[in-house]
Amino acid sequence: MYFDTHAHYDDDAFDADREQLLKSLGEKGVELIIDPGCDAPSSRRALELAEKFPFVYAAVGLHPEELDKYSPESFEEICSMARHPRCVAIGEIGLDYYWDASHKEEQKELFRRQIELALELDKPVIVHDREAHGDCLEIVRDYPGLRGVFHCYSGSAEMAKELLKLGWYLGFDGPITYKNARKALEVLELCPPDRMLIETDSPYLSPVPMRGKRNDSSNLRYVSEKIAQVKGISPEEAAAVTMANGRRLFGMEIS
Ligand code: NI
Repeated sequence: MYFDTHAHYDDDAFDADREQLLKSLGEKGVELIIDPGCDAPSSRRALELAEKFPFVYAAVGLHPEELDKYSPESFEEICSMARHPRCVAIGEIGLDYYWDASHKEEQKELFRRQIELALELDKPVIVHDREAHGDCLEIVRDYPGLRGVFHCYSGSAEMAKELLKLGWYLGFDGPITYKNARKALEVLELCPPDRMLIETDSPYLSPVPMRGKRNDSSNLRYVSEKIAQVKGISPEEAAAVTMANGRRLFGMEIS
């Protein structure tokens, strides 16, 4: 059974069939899902899904691409939603210099404020880092008690080693199945099995052979199979270890 630790079912791409799709995932082996918000309204929608479906949990946060939606009110709303019992993490948060390299300081400030919220509530963070590897590493290093995942990890092997030393988890997504996946596979090879998470980032990043189509959590098996192949373990072991890792990081262990 699979744990998709990153899927945006609050996205418009699922408006036509969201409920049927979510209801069908159990029989396709998907046991747990985290839906991370990107701004206040999408975080609210993620929480609504988490209230409705027992296997869906939410994360709430302001994504760096949504910097222009930041206001004291939207931040207040994130802080209040973050206390909801179905909210298991703060995310997705981070830095995106591909999207916007002209507001780096504002992005960093927003990232730090949300890290501080996560620490205050003792919840992990889901980090989005796109072309901002050095600054992301520098910021997370400032918070020794912080835990979380670098979602769809795209940094270097050297940085991965640093993050692993600091206790971070790394998220692997559809791109590890792509032909040009050299760097991501190098990182996967060095990542200890107990720090790997599998994600779809649905509706984006569909793995091969579904590349180009809308993604959903039933495609997680292609990511998990690739992990099994690279790590030399069975697909069942890959699913089981990533399930256990997700449960541990997000505080959903079965007692
Ligand atoms: Ni995402």
